[in-house]
Amino acid sequence: MTSSPHQPDLITPATTIPHDASAPPIFQSSSFLFDSYSQIADVFAGRSDRFIYSRGDNPTVSELEGLIARMEGTKAARGFSSGMAAICGAVMPFVKSGDRIVAVEHLYSDAFRLFENVLSRFGVETVYVDGSDTQAMIEALPGARLVYLESPTSWTFRLQDLRAIGAAARQHGVMSVIDNSWATPIFQKPADLGIDLMVHAASKYLSGHSDTLGGLVAGSRDLIRKIDHEATHLFGGRMSPMDAFLILRGMRTLDLRMQRHMETGLALARMLEAHSSVTRIHHPALLANRPEGLRGFGGLFAFDLADGVDPERFCNALRRIRIGVSWGGPESLIVPGAAACGLAGAANSFRRFGVSPRCIRLAAGLEPAEELMADLTHALDSATAVAA
Ligand SMILES: Cc1ncc(COP(=O)(O)O)c(C=O)c1O
Repeated sequence: MTSSPHQPDLITPATTIPHDASAPPIFQSSSFLFDSYSQIADVFAGRSDRFIYSRGDNPTVSELEGLIARMEGTKAARGFSSGMAAICGAVMPFVKSGDRIVAVEHLYSDAFRLFENVLSRFGVETVYVDGSDTQAMIEALPGARLVYLESPTSWTFRLQDLRAIGAAARQHGVMSVIDNSWATPIFQKPADLGIDLMVHAASKYLSGHSDTLGGLVAGSRDLIRKIDHEATHLFGGRMSPMDAFLILRGMRTLDLRMQRHMETGLALARMLEAHSSVTRIHHPALLANRPEGLRGFGGLFAFDLADGVDPERFCNALRRIRIGVSWGGPESLIVPGAAACGLAGAANSFRRFGVSPRCIRLAAGLEPAEELMADLTHALDSATAVAA
């Protein structure tokens, strides 16, 4: 499970950079100027594609959009101010009152809240299906407007057969959207398997340094044009030039970081699997049958603590691994499921989809794996010894 570490298009910017600088400039400008009436008239009329205003387009953001489109194998992409803004941008322009969305169970809790609490108020119904049951997914598609996938899903890390679901979606005229933040295009290119739109929480692996919020949507020119008309300009949640610059910088090392996140995540998952205080590991590598298309693994996974282990003591005993939401940065983080249930969306989705509150989500960072293993062993042993 390796990909080539040599990815020139990640390292070399697509556009020529003034002064032969090796890094792209940040065009920290809200608007762009015109020399004449006819120049601005041409832009408004679509006869010229100069930049106008950064809520529409900005050169630094465009550089990143071009990069993610090339990596995902699509013709176009758009940047948003967060992953959630990108999810809104990928879904909302395509649904209207009376439509039905088919979503995978165990999806990211705020995407679940968007479907449950917001879209439902506009007459859009969402049905949730076990994404690993390909037949059930395909049977749910006729008559739906959009299928929303996360492969793997949040907290349970279940995979979907993207090729089979993508083909069935096209056959029934259903648009397909996937959150590809976990695998990144380094490990999974859903467009090659027939998925229409790829969404990224660029706040995670793409930026990779826990210093940025951003989101991206990649897809065909037609779909991105519709998103432009309805979401990027009108919702206004556009990516900022500074965030685009930071994400571009992070992506220059994406391939190397993904290899390391994968190796460390696998080492920790195998160690936890062998530990008597852990009853179950939720990691796609441990599934017997993996659908095609996934060439590697993100470093985010989850595990269930055995009954005798106190989750609070376990979390508090960790020294190297910190408690914190998000993932994809250099630091290893855990989120205890029972505490996450305090978040309204998470609590509802945990209950609805039967995720154990004894579940712990672990994001393997870039630290030495041995240090993280020692930390986990110590915390498990101390939490188990006290509870016994
Ligand atoms: C799988 C997944 N998708 C989307 C998001 C949303 O990204 P953002 O926090 O940038 O809005 C998250 C955030 O944690 C996530 O875990």
